Order: sequence, then C-alpha cells, then structure tokens
Amino acid sequence: MHIQMSSFLLASFALLFCISTLEKSFAFQATKESNNLRQYHFVHLNSLFPSSSCSSSAKGPKRKASLEVVHKHGPCSQLNHNGKAKTTISHTDIMNLDNERVKYIQSRLSKNLGRENSVKELDSTTLPTKSNSLIGSANYFVVVGLGTPKRDLSLVFDTGSDLTWTQCEPCAGSCYKQQDAIFDPSKSSSYINITCTSSLCTQLTSAGIKSRCSSSTTACIYGIQYGDKSTSVGFLSQERLTITATDIVDDFLFGCGQDNEGLFSGSAGLIGLGRHPISFVQQTSSIYNKIFSYCLPSTSSSLGHLTFGASAATNANLKYTPLSTISGDNTFYGLDIVGISVGGTKLPAVSSSTFSAGGSIIDSGTVITRLAPTAYAALRSAFRQGMEKYPVANEDGLFDTCYDFSGYKEISVPKIDFEFAGGVTVELPLVGILIGRSAQQVCLAFAANGNDNDITIFGNVQQKTLEVVYDVEGGRIGFGAAGCN
Ligand SMILES: *[C@@H]1O[C@H](CO)[C@@H](O)[C@H](O)[C@H]1NC(C)=O
Repeated sequence: MHIQMSSFLLASFALLFCISTLEKSFAFQATKESNNLRQYHFVHLNSLFPSSSCSSSAKGPKRKASLEVVHKHGPCSQLNHNGKAKTTISHTDIMNLDNERVKYIQSRLSKNLGRENSVKELDSTTLPTKSNSLIGSANYFVVVGLGTPKRDLSLVFDTGSDLTWTQCEPCAGSCYKQQDAIFDPSKSSSYINITCTSSLCTQLTSAGIKSRCSSSTTACIYGIQYGDKSTSVGFLSQERLTITATDIVDDFLFGCGQDNEGLFSGSAGLIGLGRHPISFVQQTSSIYNKIFSYCLPSTSSSLGHLTFGASAATNANLKYTPLSTISGDNTFYGLDIVGISVGGTKLPAVSSSTFSAGGSIIDSGTVITRLAPTAYAALRSAFRQGMEKYPVANEDGLFDTCYDFSGYKEISVPKIDFEFAGGVTVELPLVGILIGRSAQQVCLAFAANGNDNDITIFGNVQQKTLEVVYDVEGGRIGFGAAGCN
C-alpha cells in the first residue's frame, strides 16, 4: 500500500513535471512567435509585384487640395495610351538613371564643389544630344491645370528641384513626345512673360538655374539641367495654376519650355517641390502655409496622393523629426538618421556619427536609398543572417544581396527600422526592403555610397506606403504608417 502510494505520488510528480515543462515550452513557443511577428514580415511573394490592372480600391477618403499620385511605368499610368509616348523602361535603365541622379546630388552638395561647377553652361553647344534614355528620377506624377481656359498637364513631382516647368508651343528648340496636348501660351488669356531685368529672373541663379536675356525680345530665358542629363530651356513665365476646382494660384512662376531633352516618359514636365523661393511650396505659401504630404503607392498598380496645406497632416499616427539644411544648399530637405535596426536589433556599428560626416536628405526623386558604406555593410550583414534559409541569386547591378524565391509562395523577411532624430522610429514596409523583377531574383533594396563622407539619401522605394509630411513652416518631417496601399 505504502509502496503503491509512493509510486502513485511519483507518477503524479512526473506528470506534473511533464505538464509544467509542456506549458513552459508552449509559453516559449508563443513568445517566439510574437517576437517573430514583431521582427519579421510574413507575406505573400505576390505582394512585391504590381498586378496587371490598376487597383482603384486603393483610393482613400478624398482630402482637400489632394491629387492622385500615379507611377509613370505601370497600369495606373495613362501616359502610354494611344502609343503617343513611350513609357516602358527597363529596371536596369531606372537604376542607371538613379545612379546619375545620385552622382549629381553628391557633386552638388559636396563641400568642395560650388554649385556653379556642377551646373553646366546654358549654351546649346554643350547641351546633351537627344538620347533615348528616360528620366529615372521623379517617377511619380500628378495632374494639374495650367492657363485660362485651363489645360490638364501630367507633371512629375520632385522634392529635389525647384522650378516647375512644362513643354510649350511652338517648341522652338524641340519637344519630346507627351500624352497631353502641349501647352500653348498664345491660347491662354492669363499667360505673362517675365523680362530679364525682373528680379524673378535674376533669382534663378541662386536656385542653380542658368538665366539669360533673349537678345531680340528681352524675355528671361532659363535653362535647367537635371542629374540624369535631362534639360529644359525656355521662357520664364507666369500663369494661372489650377490645383483643384477650388484651389487656384494666380501668377504662378514657371518655365515655358521651348527646348526639352531627355524623355520625361510622356509627362508634360515637372513640379518643383524644393525649398528655394521659386519652388511650388514657397510660391503657394500664403495658401498652403508650406505644408505638403505624399504617399507613394506600394506598386505601380496602385495609387497614392500628393496633398497641400492643412489637410496634408491629418494622418493620426504621424511622428516628426526635425528638418535640417545642408550647408550651402537651398533646395534639398535634410534630416538626421541616428540608427538602423534589422529584425528588431539595433545595428551596433550604426549611430548618428555614421551619418554626420556627409549629412542626410530625404528625396522623392532618388529611387534607392544610398547609405554610408559603414552603415550599408552592417545592414547587409544583419539582413543576410536573417535570410539564411533562402537560396541566394546573382547580384543585380546596384544590388549585391539577392535571393531566389521561385520555390516559395510566402516569405519571411527581417523588418528594417530607420531611427531619426527626435526619437522617431519608422518601420519600412516590405516593398521598402526588397526589390525585384521576378521571384527568381529579389534583392535588398539599398545601396552604398562610395565614401562615408558622401551624403546619405533616403529614397522613394523606402518611402513607399508611408505618409510623408513636409512641414517646412514648422521645420519638421513627419512619417506615418499606411498612408496608402
Ligand atoms: C512672350 O514672349 C514670346 C517670345 O518673345 C512672344 O512670342 C510672345 O508673344 C510673348 N507673349 C506675351 C503674352 O507677351
């Protein structure tokens, strides 16, 4: 009896022990999973690629002074209809043009080079010859109205340049093909020419734009050259600009381009959203108080927004980091990156000092974020560790960390967080981490600068689906999750 009792007790203890170990291991399993959820994106591979039709379900509630943002090269773009304009572009071309833009930004912001050295002379003999390369920068466009009566124009928007311009009749030099009818100033009752003695003309120089006087008419001629060697030369003018039915800007200063080179993929020109007084942001300050926001869609088959004024900052979960400036520059928006985390772990080798030598900017036109080599190496090594289970694929131009997901429907990818000054942590969406043409070759969507002293650029792939608020008046940049699909 006694023996039986103790063996019963023993058995009970053993059972209890088993149960408690089981519970512990269940508990362990549960924490591991919730940690995993916090540290990894678990997603369908398909979510990385655009679908073949434009998803209009992506539209959020319509805000005041808000324009739809469309990617130039995808099913939502109207720019390639009727075969008027060629908008197909290879991934390689986009990356090559992105490199050109980055080189240009680096040289323009480099402490050793004045901007006079980096902006080419405005002289038809030094203008680049017409090439078939498309502008790789500024891949997103909106539609605005110009003139009286208004004509709708599809313009790419760019926080990395200031002057807004469109191609103008009679295209005295040359115009590339565009989808919209080319703007004809002679058919608008609100068009005004700026003379070369006007201060509006002379201030172009401080924006890095050449200007000169037309010898026959004393009209102000501007000439702008972009990082990817695209150019627009024409008359500096003023016009009525219609943003929405209720938001109209009179006497808006813009370039009426007579000689435009380097295909802008069928768009009619560009909206400059930089910091200089001639930019859209500064010219409309009395209406919009120097605040705008945008959300760039996750793929080219969905839509984002570009919103001006008070309704730009209505997203509930915005976190703000101070806006900074880069010495000697009055176009770009600077911010301070102070750390990067991969899979929930802060990279020990990356701190604010990693970025302080070169400084950092946020740019809507640069595609791929460029990091100081030290930061990139640390990011890559942590990312590769988190991706060990996947077969690697060949390098792809800019990208040296690529995977072959062809055997997978779902993938798990370590999360990447960027930490900005002011305690702002921004979790990048999956489409801000990986880029690829097909499941066979999907790559880590970051690149290294040549030197730790080069400027860090927070590019548009990493900004996808984030609500990004430029509160220029308040001196801050806001980030919010899930601004668009
Ligand atoms: C603006 O200047 C151009 C070039 O000199 C000229 O052809 C055009 O008539 C002018 N337009 C107006 C409204 O003054």
